[in-house]
Amino acid sequence: MKKQIILLASAFCCLVMAGCGNRTTAETPSNTQGDPANQYIVVGFSQLGAESDWRSENTESMKSTFTQENGFELIFEDGQQKQSNQIMAIRKFIQQEVDYIVIAPVIETGWDTVLQEAKDAGIPVILVDRMVDVEDESLYTAWVGSDFALEGDMAGEWINRFLQTKGIENANIVNIQGTLGASAQIGRTNGLRDACMKNSNMTLLAEVTGDFTQMKAMEVMESLLKQYGDQIDIVYCENDNEAFGVIEAIESMGWSVGSNIADGEIMIISFDGVKAESKYYILEDKISCIIECNPLQGPLVMDIIMQIENGKTPNKLSYIDEGMFAHDNTVSSVEIDGISHPVTVVTEVTVVTQEADNDGITITTIVGNNIK
Ligand code: AHR
Repeated sequence: MKKQIILLASAFCCLVMAGCGNRTTAETPSNTQGDPANQYIVVGFSQLGAESDWRSENTESMKSTFTQENGFELIFEDGQQKQSNQIMAIRKFIQQEVDYIVIAPVIETGWDTVLQEAKDAGIPVILVDRMVDVEDESLYTAWVGSDFALEGDMAGEWINRFLQTKGIENANIVNIQGTLGASAQIGRTNGLRDACMKNSNMTLLAEVTGDFTQMKAMEVMESLLKQYGDQIDIVYCENDNEAFGVIEAIESMGWSVGSNIADGEIMIISFDGVKAESKYYILEDKISCIIECNPLQGPLVMDIIMQIENGKTPNKLSYIDEGMFAHDNTVSSVEIDGISHPVTVVTEVTVVTQEADNDGITITTIVGNNIK
């Protein structure tokens, strides 16, 4: 599987990308010369699973980047939410002698041994999305993903500022956490905990994991409503799919979602904002604020690989720029560590679904456009 030819640096082309804090262009290898059977850079990608819309977009970003057209052969393995599956996949990649191993790790701990095996085999490891917690940081070459601690801080501060502006002295919050031990869960949970410790207007009533899935979040929300009922003012969902499940539970049990917590509505806060559907939820005030998490990491990983191919040393850590979206302008920006982060009010969403009918004709449905 090892690639056989040296790629021609002069034939690289530039790909414009958005969002990475450290660079804005990536290079792709030329595959126009040599034997097509063995000229590709072989990338083994261990994706952690398919638990959310975000994850599907992330997988798609990797698959559409690491194509043969771009000079790559991608070996994709779905870990199905289990670290043991991911470890097996990495060992398989090592046996296959891939050129690069890319991992989206399900949780942070427990990677030292297998990453040492990859290092001993001389295969560079690039981490995407979540981080690993290892003794020796030379076990991975680079990481690209989101600043989950910042995301959590932005969400916590947005809630605080919202309550202050509305003159609400106390709000009870339940947290539907993500997969326990995942970087996204740790950063977002800590952000809320810190905000509740700092601000007397925020009370953390309960924390329970929804595993980043719609179904589990719906189940746990039903239990929380039975336990706490009217006491709940805000539900902090650690991703959009959890928010969708939570909203279903709240509405089916007879409560209303929305920003008007003084009048008994339950306010939903969420993370991701990947699909137009989630912005549509904001427009309708079913979700009041979403902190963006950007899944389009494929081109950034390719950029790292091309730097290594060219003998350069990529940045160890590359953060993706992310924003915030809200239903209204009650909070126009939040300040974290002296930096102001603007909040974009969602005023218009076009949700388009495309499907082919029996004759293969594509039907486009506009679900919502400029509704208000
Ligand atoms: O690690 C990123 C998180 O994982 C996304 O917020 C979530 O949707 C996904 O499952």
